[in-house]
Amino acid sequence: TEPTSDWRDIPKVELHLHLEGAAPPAFIRGLAAEKGMDLSAIFRPDGGYRYEGFEHFLQVYEAACQVLTGPEEFRRLTLAVLEESASQGVVYTEAFLSPEFCGGGDVGAWREYLAAIQDAAMQAERDFGITLRGCATIIRHLGPDKGRDTARCAVETAGDFLTGFGLAGAEMMGRPGDYAWSFDAAREAGLRLTAHAGEWGGPDMVADTIRDLKVERIGHGINAIRDLALVDDIAEKGIVLEVCPGSNVFLGAVPSWKDHPLPKLMARGVKCTVSTDDPPFFHTTMSNEYDMLEQVFDFGESEFRHLAETGLAGAFCDEATRERVR
Ligand code: ADE
Ligand code: ZN
Repeated sequence: TEPTSDWRDIPKVELHLHLEGAAPPAFIRGLAAEKGMDLSAIFRPDGGYRYEGFEHFLQVYEAACQVLTGPEEFRRLTLAVLEESASQGVVYTEAFLSPEFCGGGDVGAWREYLAAIQDAAMQAERDFGITLRGCATIIRHLGPDKGRDTARCAVETAGDFLTGFGLAGAEMMGRPGDYAWSFDAAREAGLRLTAHAGEWGGPDMVADTIRDLKVERIGHGINAIRDLALVDDIAEKGIVLEVCPGSNVFLGAVPSWKDHPLPKLMARGVKCTVSTDDPPFFHTTMSNEYDMLEQVFDFGESEFRHLAETGLAGAFCDEATRERVR
Protein backbone atom coordinates (compact mmCIF):
# COMPACT_ATOMS: atom_id res chain seq x y z
CA THR A 1 0.00 0.00 0.00
CA GLU A 2 1.03 3.57 -0.60
CA PRO A 3 2.29 5.37 2.50
CA THR A 4 -0.15 8.12 3.39
CA SER A 5 2.64 10.37 4.52
CA ASP A 6 6.36 10.56 4.07
CA TRP A 7 8.80 11.98 6.61
CA ARG A 8 9.77 14.47 3.93
CA ASP A 9 6.44 16.18 4.55
CA ILE A 10 7.10 16.70 8.27
CA PRO A 11 7.64 20.42 8.87
CA LYS A 12 11.21 21.11 9.97
CA VAL A 13 12.42 23.28 12.83
CA GLU A 14 15.93 24.73 12.75
CA LEU A 15 17.47 26.30 15.85
CA HIS A 16 21.10 26.78 14.79
CA LEU A 17 21.70 28.90 11.71
CA HIS A 18 24.16 31.77 11.34
CA LEU A 19 22.47 34.40 9.18
CA GLU A 20 25.66 35.53 7.41
CA GLY A 21 26.86 31.91 7.23
CA ALA A 22 23.70 31.01 5.34
CA ALA A 23 24.43 33.55 2.59
CA PRO A 24 24.45 31.80 -0.79
CA PRO A 25 27.83 32.39 -2.46
CA ALA A 26 26.05 33.80 -5.53
CA PHE A 27 24.36 36.38 -3.28
CA ILE A 28 27.71 37.51 -1.83
CA ARG A 29 29.35 37.50 -5.28
CA GLY A 30 26.49 39.57 -6.67
CA LEU A 31 26.81 42.19 -3.92
CA ALA A 32 30.59 42.30 -4.39
CA ALA A 33 30.08 42.98 -8.10
CA GLU A 34 27.51 45.72 -7.37
CA LYS A 35 29.97 47.41 -5.03
CA GLY A 36 33.07 46.85 -7.14
CA MET A 37 34.72 44.80 -4.38
CA ASP A 38 37.15 42.02 -5.27
CA LEU A 39 36.31 38.91 -3.24
CA SER A 40 37.70 36.42 -5.76
CA ALA A 41 40.10 35.01 -3.12
CA ILE A 42 37.22 33.46 -1.13
CA PHE A 43 35.55 31.65 -4.05
CA ARG A 44 36.46 28.46 -5.88
CA PRO A 45 36.19 28.20 -9.65
CA ASP A 46 32.89 26.32 -9.22
CA GLY A 47 31.47 29.29 -7.30
CA GLY A 48 31.50 27.81 -3.77
CA TYR A 49 33.34 29.28 -0.79
CA ARG A 50 37.06 28.44 -0.70
CA TYR A 51 38.67 27.67 2.67
CA GLU A 52 40.67 25.03 4.49
CA GLY A 53 39.75 24.13 8.09
CA PHE A 54 37.86 25.92 10.87
CA GLU A 55 40.13 28.94 11.47
CA HIS A 56 40.24 29.73 7.78
CA PHE A 57 36.49 29.18 7.56
CA LEU A 58 36.01 31.96 10.15
CA GLN A 59 38.27 34.27 8.10
CA VAL A 60 36.45 33.60 4.83
CA TYR A 61 33.12 34.05 6.63
CA GLU A 62 34.24 37.48 7.85
CA ALA A 63 35.56 38.40 4.40
CA ALA A 64 32.18 37.56 2.87
CA CYS A 65 30.52 39.81 5.48
CA GLN A 66 32.42 42.83 4.10
CA VAL A 67 29.81 43.17 1.34
CA LEU A 68 27.01 43.36 3.94
CA THR A 69 27.50 47.08 4.43
CA GLY A 70 24.11 48.26 5.69
CA PRO A 71 20.57 47.38 6.78
CA GLU A 72 19.38 47.02 3.17
CA GLU A 73 21.98 44.32 2.51
CA PHE A 74 20.76 42.44 5.59
CA ARG A 75 17.14 42.81 4.50
CA ARG A 76 17.98 41.19 1.17
CA LEU A 77 20.12 38.52 2.84
CA THR A 78 17.37 37.61 5.30
CA LEU A 79 14.81 37.24 2.52
CA ALA A 80 17.15 35.07 0.41
CA VAL A 81 18.00 32.83 3.38
CA LEU A 82 14.38 32.39 4.49
CA GLU A 83 13.18 31.64 0.97
CA GLU A 84 15.76 28.87 0.75
CA SER A 85 14.94 27.50 4.21
CA ALA A 86 11.21 27.48 3.44
CA SER A 87 11.93 25.54 0.25
CA GLN A 88 13.58 22.90 2.49
CA GLY A 89 10.34 22.49 4.44
CA VAL A 90 11.49 24.60 7.40
CA VAL A 91 8.55 26.35 9.13
CA TYR A 92 10.39 27.84 12.10
CA THR A 93 13.99 28.97 12.31
CA GLU A 94 16.21 30.90 14.63
CA ALA A 95 19.19 32.83 13.30
CA PHE A 96 22.33 33.98 15.05
CA LEU A 97 22.68 37.70 14.36
CA SER A 98 25.91 39.56 15.04
CA PRO A 99 25.74 43.18 16.23
CA GLU A 100 29.47 43.29 15.37
CA PHE A 101 28.65 42.76 11.67
CA CYS A 102 25.60 45.01 11.99
CA GLY A 103 26.97 48.39 12.96
CA GLY A 104 30.12 47.36 14.86
CA GLY A 105 28.45 47.10 18.25
CA ASP A 106 26.80 50.55 18.16
CA VAL A 107 23.29 50.34 19.62
CA GLY A 108 21.74 52.94 17.29
CA ALA A 109 23.13 51.32 14.15
CA TRP A 110 22.16 47.85 15.39
CA ARG A 111 18.55 48.99 15.85
CA GLU A 112 18.41 49.88 12.15
CA TYR A 113 19.93 46.61 11.00
CA LEU A 114 17.61 44.66 13.28
CA ALA A 115 14.56 46.55 11.98
CA ALA A 116 15.55 45.64 8.41
CA ILE A 117 16.03 41.96 9.33
CA GLN A 118 12.69 41.90 11.14
CA ASP A 119 10.98 43.58 8.20
CA ALA A 120 12.31 40.86 5.89
CA ALA A 121 11.20 38.21 8.38
CA MET A 122 7.63 39.53 8.31
CA GLN A 123 7.66 39.52 4.52
CA ALA A 124 9.01 35.94 4.49
CA GLU A 125 6.32 34.87 6.94
CA ARG A 126 3.64 36.22 4.58
CA ASP A 127 5.23 35.01 1.36
CA PHE A 128 6.92 31.72 2.32
CA GLY A 129 5.20 30.63 5.53
CA ILE A 130 8.33 30.56 7.65
CA THR A 131 8.75 32.15 11.09
CA LEU A 132 12.08 33.66 12.19
CA ARG A 133 13.35 34.64 15.62
CA GLY A 134 16.71 36.31 16.21
CA CYS A 135 19.51 35.47 18.62
CA ALA A 136 22.11 38.23 19.13
CA THR A 137 25.45 36.53 19.27
CA ILE A 138 28.89 37.34 20.65
CA ILE A 139 31.83 36.54 18.38
CA ARG A 140 34.15 34.90 20.87
CA HIS A 141 37.48 35.57 19.15
CA LEU A 142 36.81 39.32 19.30
CA GLY A 143 37.09 39.10 23.09
CA PRO A 144 34.97 39.94 26.17
CA ASP A 145 34.92 43.75 25.63
CA LYS A 146 33.28 43.37 22.22
CA GLY A 147 31.07 40.76 23.87
CA ARG A 148 29.77 43.39 26.28
CA ASP A 149 28.97 45.68 23.32
CA THR A 150 26.93 42.82 21.84
CA ALA A 151 25.16 42.32 25.17
CA ARG A 152 24.28 46.03 25.39
CA CYS A 153 22.85 45.90 21.86
CA ALA A 154 20.84 42.80 22.72
CA VAL A 155 19.49 44.16 26.00
CA GLU A 156 18.26 47.33 24.26
CA THR A 157 16.39 45.40 21.57
CA ALA A 158 15.12 42.31 23.40
CA GLY A 159 11.51 41.61 22.53
CA ASP A 160 9.12 39.57 20.42
CA PHE A 161 11.62 39.18 17.58
CA LEU A 162 14.98 39.26 19.31
CA THR A 163 14.42 36.49 21.84
CA GLY A 164 17.84 34.88 22.22
CA PHE A 165 21.43 35.58 23.13
CA GLY A 166 24.38 33.46 22.06
CA LEU A 167 28.12 32.92 21.81
CA ALA A 168 29.84 31.70 18.63
CA GLY A 169 33.26 32.01 16.98
CA ALA A 170 36.57 30.42 17.96
CA GLU A 171 35.66 28.19 20.90
CA MET A 172 39.23 27.65 22.07
CA MET A 173 39.76 31.39 22.75
CA GLY A 174 39.38 32.12 26.45
CA ARG A 175 36.90 30.48 28.82
CA PRO A 176 33.11 30.68 28.99
CA GLY A 177 33.29 32.58 32.29
CA ASP A 178 34.88 35.52 30.41
CA TYR A 179 31.37 36.14 29.03
CA ALA A 180 29.42 35.75 32.28
CA TRP A 181 28.75 39.52 32.59
CA SER A 182 27.21 39.58 29.12
CA PHE A 183 25.10 36.47 29.70
CA ASP A 184 23.90 37.78 33.08
CA ALA A 185 22.83 41.07 31.44
CA ALA A 186 21.04 39.23 28.63
CA ARG A 187 19.25 36.91 31.08
CA GLU A 188 18.07 39.87 33.16
CA ALA A 189 16.65 41.44 29.98
CA GLY A 190 14.55 38.31 29.46
CA LEU A 191 16.63 36.85 26.65
CA ARG A 192 16.95 33.06 26.34
CA LEU A 193 20.51 31.74 26.31
CA THR A 194 22.59 29.41 24.15
CA ALA A 195 26.34 29.09 23.53
CA HIS A 196 28.56 27.13 21.19
CA ALA A 197 30.55 24.60 23.22
CA GLY A 198 31.89 21.11 22.70
CA GLU A 199 32.28 21.53 18.95
CA TRP A 200 36.07 21.85 19.37
CA GLY A 201 36.40 21.98 23.15
CA GLY A 202 36.10 18.96 25.41
CA PRO A 203 33.60 18.06 28.12
CA ASP A 204 35.23 20.63 30.43
CA MET A 205 34.25 23.42 28.03
CA VAL A 206 30.66 22.18 27.93
CA ALA A 207 30.50 21.85 31.73
CA ASP A 208 31.98 25.36 32.26
CA THR A 209 29.51 26.81 29.74
CA ILE A 210 26.57 25.33 31.65
CA ARG A 211 27.93 26.42 35.04
CA ASP A 212 29.16 29.93 34.15
CA LEU A 213 26.70 31.08 31.48
CA LYS A 214 23.61 29.17 32.70
CA VAL A 215 22.47 28.40 29.17
CA GLU A 216 19.35 26.38 28.37
CA ARG A 217 20.74 25.26 25.00
CA ILE A 218 24.19 24.43 23.68
CA GLY A 219 25.41 24.83 20.10
CA HIS A 220 26.88 21.48 19.07
CA GLY A 221 27.81 20.04 22.49
CA ILE A 222 28.83 16.81 20.78
CA ASN A 223 32.11 16.37 22.64
CA ALA A 224 30.11 15.87 25.82
CA ILE A 225 29.92 12.26 24.62
CA ARG A 226 33.48 11.79 25.97
CA ASP A 227 32.13 12.10 29.54
CA LEU A 228 28.98 10.09 30.15
CA ALA A 229 28.39 11.64 33.58
CA LEU A 230 28.21 15.00 31.82
CA VAL A 231 25.85 13.56 29.19
CA ASP A 232 23.57 12.36 31.99
CA ASP A 233 23.73 15.81 33.62
CA ILE A 234 22.75 17.49 30.33
CA ALA A 235 19.86 15.05 29.97
CA GLU A 236 18.72 15.58 33.54
CA LYS A 237 18.86 19.37 33.26
CA GLY A 238 16.87 19.19 30.02
CA ILE A 239 19.46 21.23 28.14
CA VAL A 240 18.80 21.13 24.39
CA LEU A 241 21.68 20.43 22.01
CA GLU A 242 21.67 22.15 18.62
CA VAL A 243 23.42 19.37 16.71
CA CYS A 244 24.78 20.08 13.21
CA PRO A 245 26.10 16.77 11.87
CA GLY A 246 26.91 17.90 8.32
CA SER A 247 28.88 20.87 9.67
CA ASN A 248 30.77 18.63 12.10
CA VAL A 249 31.74 16.17 9.36
CA PHE A 250 32.67 18.86 6.84
CA LEU A 251 34.87 20.79 9.31
CA GLY A 252 36.37 17.60 10.72
CA ALA A 253 34.98 17.89 14.26
CA VAL A 254 33.92 14.25 13.77
CA PRO A 255 35.67 11.92 11.30
CA SER A 256 32.60 10.77 9.38
CA TRP A 257 28.82 10.60 9.43
CA LYS A 258 28.79 7.08 10.85
CA ASP A 259 30.98 8.25 13.76
CA HIS A 260 28.61 11.08 14.67
CA PRO A 261 27.43 10.83 18.32
CA LEU A 262 23.88 12.15 17.65
CA PRO A 263 22.13 8.75 18.02
CA LYS A 264 24.09 7.93 21.19
CA LEU A 265 23.19 11.29 22.74
CA MET A 266 19.51 10.79 21.88
CA ALA A 267 19.52 7.22 23.20
CA ARG A 268 20.93 8.49 26.51
CA GLY A 269 18.03 10.90 26.88
CA VAL A 270 19.57 14.18 25.71
CA LYS A 271 17.17 16.57 23.97
CA CYS A 272 18.73 16.89 20.50
CA THR A 273 17.74 18.96 17.51
CA VAL A 274 19.29 19.04 14.02
CA SER A 275 20.42 22.13 12.11
CA THR A 276 22.70 23.12 9.24
CA ASP A 277 24.88 25.83 10.93
CA ASP A 278 26.22 27.53 7.76
CA PRO A 279 24.64 25.52 4.94
CA PRO A 280 26.43 26.77 1.79
CA PHE A 281 29.82 26.64 3.54
CA PHE A 282 29.26 22.96 4.37
CA HIS A 283 27.44 22.01 1.18
CA THR A 284 24.37 21.02 3.10
CA THR A 285 20.66 21.80 3.49
CA MET A 286 18.03 20.65 6.00
CA SER A 287 16.83 18.08 3.47
CA ASN A 288 20.37 16.80 3.06
CA GLU A 289 20.80 16.48 6.84
CA TYR A 290 17.58 14.47 7.09
CA ASP A 291 18.53 12.32 4.07
CA MET A 292 21.89 11.51 5.65
CA LEU A 293 20.26 10.65 8.99
CA GLU A 294 17.99 8.23 7.15
CA GLN A 295 20.81 6.67 5.15
CA VAL A 296 23.40 6.44 7.92
CA PHE A 297 21.28 5.87 11.05
CA ASP A 298 18.04 4.59 9.57
CA PHE A 299 16.07 7.52 11.00
CA GLY A 300 12.45 7.53 9.88
CA GLU A 301 9.15 9.20 10.55
CA SER A 302 9.17 8.74 14.33
CA GLU A 303 12.71 10.13 14.75
CA PHE A 304 11.96 13.11 12.51
CA ARG A 305 8.71 13.86 14.37
CA HIS A 306 10.65 13.66 17.62
CA LEU A 307 13.33 16.06 16.31
CA ALA A 308 10.73 18.58 15.18
CA GLU A 309 8.89 18.42 18.51
CA THR A 310 12.12 18.75 20.50
CA GLY A 311 13.02 21.73 18.31
CA LEU A 312 9.71 23.47 18.92
CA ALA A 313 9.84 22.74 22.65
CA GLY A 314 13.34 24.21 22.82
CA ALA A 315 12.57 27.18 20.57
CA PHE A 316 13.11 30.65 21.97
CA CYS A 317 9.58 31.84 21.18
CA ASP A 318 6.36 32.32 23.09
CA GLU A 319 3.66 29.68 23.42
CA ALA A 320 1.33 31.37 20.92
CA THR A 321 4.04 31.25 18.25
CA ARG A 322 4.80 27.62 19.08
CA GLU A 323 1.14 26.68 18.73
CA ARG A 324 0.75 28.59 15.47
CA VAL A 325 3.79 26.87 13.97
CA ARG A 326 2.80 23.44 15.28
N1 ADE B 1 30.32 30.86 13.32
C1 ADE B 1 29.69 30.39 12.24
N2 ADE B 1 29.68 29.04 12.26
C2 ADE B 1 30.31 28.65 13.37
C3 ADE B 1 30.62 27.40 13.96
N3 ADE B 1 30.28 26.24 13.39
N4 ADE B 1 31.27 27.39 15.12
C4 ADE B 1 31.63 28.53 15.69
N5 ADE B 1 31.37 29.73 15.19
C5 ADE B 1 30.71 29.80 14.05
ZN1 ZN C 1 27.29 27.50 14.74
